[in-house]
Amino acid sequence: MHITMIGGGYVGLVSGACLAAFGARVIVIENDPIRLDRLKAGNIPLYEPGLDELIAEQRQAERLAFSDDLASALQKSRAVFIAVGTPTRRGSGHADLSYVHAAARAIAAHAPDGLLIVTKSTVPVGTGRQVAAIVRQARPDLTFHIASNPEFLREGHAIADFMQPDRVIIGLEGDPTAPSSTARTLLETLYAPLNQPESRLLFMGLESAELTKYAANAFLAMKVTFANEMADLCEATGGQIADVTRGMGMDPRISPHFLMPGPGYGGSCFPKDTQALATSARQAGTPMQLIETTIAANEARKRRLAERILALAGNDITHCTIAVLGLTFKAHTDDMRQAPSLTILPLLHEAGATLRVYDPQGMDTASPLLPDGILYADSPLHAAEGADILLVLTEWPVFAALTPTQLAPRMRGRLILDYRQIWQGHNWQKAGFHYHCLGCGTHRDSGS
Ligand code: UGA
Repeated sequence: MHITMIGGGYVGLVSGACLAAFGARVIVIENDPIRLDRLKAGNIPLYEPGLDELIAEQRQAERLAFSDDLASALQKSRAVFIAVGTPTRRGSGHADLSYVHAAARAIAAHAPDGLLIVTKSTVPVGTGRQVAAIVRQARPDLTFHIASNPEFLREGHAIADFMQPDRVIIGLEGDPTAPSSTARTLLETLYAPLNQPESRLLFMGLESAELTKYAANAFLAMKVTFANEMADLCEATGGQIADVTRGMGMDPRISPHFLMPGPGYGGSCFPKDTQALATSARQAGTPMQLIETTIAANEARKRRLAERILALAGNDITHCTIAVLGLTFKAHTDDMRQAPSLTILPLLHEAGATLRVYDPQGMDTASPLLPDGILYADSPLHAAEGADILLVLTEWPVFAALTPTQLAPRMRGRLILDYRQIWQGHNWQKAGFHYHCLGCGTHRDSGS
């Protein structure tokens, strides 16, 4: 089956390459000429493990191509996926739908009869119907089908998430249970490799599919925020968050996932999607207080951690060198969007600290976003040279492998702030370091 994917960004590239691997013939439409040239040259403009190889393999097999010619691509296609960005609109929590609407207009201009139009971008409830209305208005005589197929890819694990999903959510117009609907049949064919041993496709109405995406991300953001607040309480009372979350997580109704405390959630999804959901809910007259509070608590956390570091350094860090390991919002990505480092580091820099930072993938993206004067190291050990404090902000595996024996001769001070719980504290304490981790209370006298 021929399909068109509009958008050569993260979602478009991963989905396009994976659908090609499932057997479809995919043309990814990219309008930015520089990005398009890079893609055609095999120079993939983002870091996602395995993506370069998968794209090269699928291009070689002639199942994947890049183009800016939407009209020709659509003529051959049974389905078109909209995978363009939906950033937060400046000054409001609304998702900016201008790229989605522009894609709908462009599709309307060239769509062949019978085309299936699928929104893959994360879009607020009601957007699928807006897309349908745009196409209907421009081409009243056109027969087409509309579907919502939100993605649940995690950066750093996107290919596995696409190839072995927990579920594929598909929202359809009309009766989503009607087995004969054209949209349903086309999507079942496209995702056929996922139907073994049993179907992971979950059909529902358009609105439900759009809401499911936001509900899942907002719930996970809330869960992480709960773990962060619980970690603060553990610190204040002598509890150990790792024990508490293990104890909670063994209850299958809770599950152990997304309970790891950290410096606050970031990335291109949780911050944007919680905002958009809160805005949709307010607009619908059913405000969601849990999500509103989650957003505020997460923002406050990043600032509070900077204040805590200042306090640990005696409120004067003007002569203090801080080695920072990790800048990206999580490991296995070069993505700096809404990374906690973007709030924490400027506050420490402003307070007068010397910051020497290292990240395996994020430094090029990070440097224009961080204040001038921050020093960029070429390895974790280089970052630690002469440092008084070592602060871990991202859980890159390369940092977990560092030992007290490696760091002790390089650092001037002995304070380790492990804000991703990558190390065993007692190893550092034995070597004479002061080791702080999130949610590790100091009055521990039992437990295993
Ligand atoms: C998230 C969702 O997990 C995906 O299912 C979804 O498809 C995606 O958003 C999206 O909407 O496109 P992602 O943004 O890649 O994926 O990142 P996550 O792995 O979910 O992490 C989000 C944030 O929560 C990160 O800042 C991470 O460090 C933080 N986190 C996560 C914690 O602090 N603790 C945890 O236990 C888990």
